[in-house]
Amino acid sequence: MKKDRSRCLANTVYLFFYSTCIAIATISCFHFIFYHTNIKYTNNIHDFNQTHTLNIQPNKEIKTCDLFEGKWIRDARGPLYTNYSCKTIPSTKNCLLHGREDTDFLHWRWKPDKCELPRFNPNTFLSILGGKKMAFIGDSLARNQMESLLCLLSTVDTPKSIEKDIEDKFTTWEFPKHNFTLTIFWSQFLVTATDHIVNGTPTGSFHMHLDRVDTKWSEKLPSIDYAVFSDGHWFIRPHYLYEGGNLIGCIYCEKPNVTDLGVDQAMGRAFRAAFKAVNDCKNCKKIVSFLRTFSPPHFENGEWNTGGSCSRTRPIRRDEVSRARPDWEYRKVQKEEVEVASKAGEVRGNEFEVLDVTEMMSMRVDGHPGVHWLNQWTNGYKDCVHWCMPGPIDTWNQLLLETIKRRTQTQLS
Ligand SMILES: *[C@@H]1O[C@H](CO)[C@@H](O)[C@H](O)[C@H]1NC(C)=O
Ligand SMILES: *[C@@H]1O[C@H](CO)[C@@H](O)[C@H](O)[C@H]1NC(C)=O
Ligand SMILES: *[C@@H]1O[C@H](CO)[C@@H](O)[C@H](O)[C@H]1NC(C)=O
Ligand SMILES: *[C@@H]1O[C@H](CO)[C@@H](O)[C@H](O)[C@H]1NC(C)=O
Repeated sequence: MKKDRSRCLANTVYLFFYSTCIAIATISCFHFIFYHTNIKYTNNIHDFNQTHTLNIQPNKEIKTCDLFEGKWIRDARGPLYTNYSCKTIPSTKNCLLHGREDTDFLHWRWKPDKCELPRFNPNTFLSILGGKKMAFIGDSLARNQMESLLCLLSTVDTPKSIEKDIEDKFTTWEFPKHNFTLTIFWSQFLVTATDHIVNGTPTGSFHMHLDRVDTKWSEKLPSIDYAVFSDGHWFIRPHYLYEGGNLIGCIYCEKPNVTDLGVDQAMGRAFRAAFKAVNDCKNCKKIVSFLRTFSPPHFENGEWNTGGSCSRTRPIRRDEVSRARPDWEYRKVQKEEVEVASKAGEVRGNEFEVLDVTEMMSMRVDGHPGVHWLNQWTNGYKDCVHWCMPGPIDTWNQLLLETIKRRTQTQLS
């Protein structure tokens, strides 16, 4: 029974992403047309009229406080950007454009139990990362975070698109005033995978080589200073798993002679291969890597294709979060791989950090587009996986900046 349910979830998530991909391709045309006809700019630049120099205040308590344990509290100030000021919000995540009327979800901020998480300061970000290259590597949620960062930074420096493929899988932006480069490398598994074809048709299952990193991103590593990895949802469906070119097991394949290794095993090994590529990279600089932990979906009363939706307008409390979901397992294996990589990377000065968003986002049942991304191409499916922009996903970049600031402070003190 339990297995059936998770399988159902697996198919669900996979089909959802499949449809999302198709939708995104179509929507980018719409997006292009829309933004070039309808845009108004109102930059809230006064929000950021703060010191450009780093505030170096070594403070033990600040450096060690756990940023990821806390709660959401009310914040009257609202987001740093709007759907007017940021011209790069993808249509699929522009919830207000798609008729979302409640705006309460924009008025919460993350409060760690033992300290404060400062509001995102784009000048601070760009002054630390000026001259550097940052890459988001992973799935459409990696892209969602990159898009959020793009909006946050474009309040002080207008990004220039310098590289873009037709499907938005490899896209690079440059912030000319600061010589900062932001890239997304799409890689749904981080490792190589080929379609499982039956009767000439892709099934949505893959043959995944857990020890062969996806070279489409790994060969770009030598130019990267900061890498933010995130992946997860694509693993939750039937797949065949290989190591050394040999079938070693599967996920949800239900074949009597193939061992089901489980989603977390596959996910853990794929992250291991990715981090190994970072640590083994011959012509790379010292790379600071982040792993953004699993971002929970929030379908209620069904799955994406059985009427499941997410129409709540308030976050839930920490004690209301379900601990029975597999999300916690995924988060656990992901964090374990960061530990392993961190030790292995010490020799060459690589660093690995965790952006542990799983718990905080599990409370943000109110942060997804839900029905507010729908149009004629999306077939009525609700999006309870990605996050509205602006919205709680902006917090991921607040955490990214705070973690980078802490590193900088540690080095300088
Ligand atoms: C920004 O700061 C400068 C110097 O502190 C000040 O003169 C200026 O009026 C400020 N601008 C805004 C928009 O607050
Ligand atoms: C921005 O959101 C408002 C609702 O708050 C909506 O009416 C408007 O169409 C949106 N504009 C853009 C450019 O997305
Ligand atoms: C921009 O940064 C790159 C390193 O990423 C550096 O090689 C280049 O010289 C910088 N350009 C300028 C104009 O500062
Ligand atoms: C599993 O069994 C099927 C048919 O019974 C066979 O075609 C397949 O090659 C077997 N796979 C392995 C890995 O032994």
